[in-house]
Amino acid sequence: MLNIVLFGKPGSGKGTQANFLKDKYNLVHISTGDVFRKNIKNQTELGLKAEAYTQNGELVPDDVTVLMLENEIKQNLPCKGFIFDGFPRTLYQADEMNKILFKYKMKLSAIVALDVDDDLLTDRLLKRGLISGRSDDQSREKILTRLNEYRNKTEPLIEYYSKINRFHSVSGVGEIHEISLRLLDLVESVK
Ligand code: C5P
Ligand code: MG
Repeated sequence: MLNIVLFGKPGSGKGTQANFLKDKYNLVHISTGDVFRKNIKNQTELGLKAEAYTQNGELVPDDVTVLMLENEIKQNLPCKGFIFDGFPRTLYQADEMNKILFKYKMKLSAIVALDVDDDLLTDRLLKRGLISGRSDDQSREKILTRLNEYRNKTEPLIEYYSKINRFHSVSGVGEIHEISLRLLDLVESVK
């Protein structure tokens, strides 16, 4: 199996590149944010739990997110592998993910961060907000909350994964296809 965690700040291009990798390697793309948005739209039990957090740009409580992730994995097995886009976002989520992976006899092939600086991200997100319709893309305040959540809760994962030598970073600045090529090189080297 090829299991990749795509890591990076909001707006760094995780979704776009996950789509590329999914097609290239025939993987299942799990976007935690998309799953939340779908559930919120359908007002499911999960959606109701997540709604207030996502609308404010805050992270949904770990227990809710972890359960959701395991469900997504279970539903899609067997498969050639997964791209995890937006998970894990906390150390707790990373620990729980290890347990889930062990349970399903899976391993992570690589954790790849798309590296983009904050000013460029804010521009990208505000622009995306015009077409995505996402309320959390439309206000500077919510974007700032998301970047702060990332800094406080998600960034510690870089050290966590560096310790087990699974962490890689590629520049997420440039043309989409250039960034895809950077990722392709990297995935080929860990495959
Ligand atoms: O990844 P994306 O930017 O689409 O996520 C949108 C929102 O979903 C986040 O701002 C957060 O509220 C929620 N989320 C979360 N925990 C995750 C992934 C997403 O709380 N692991
Ligand atoms: Mg996304």
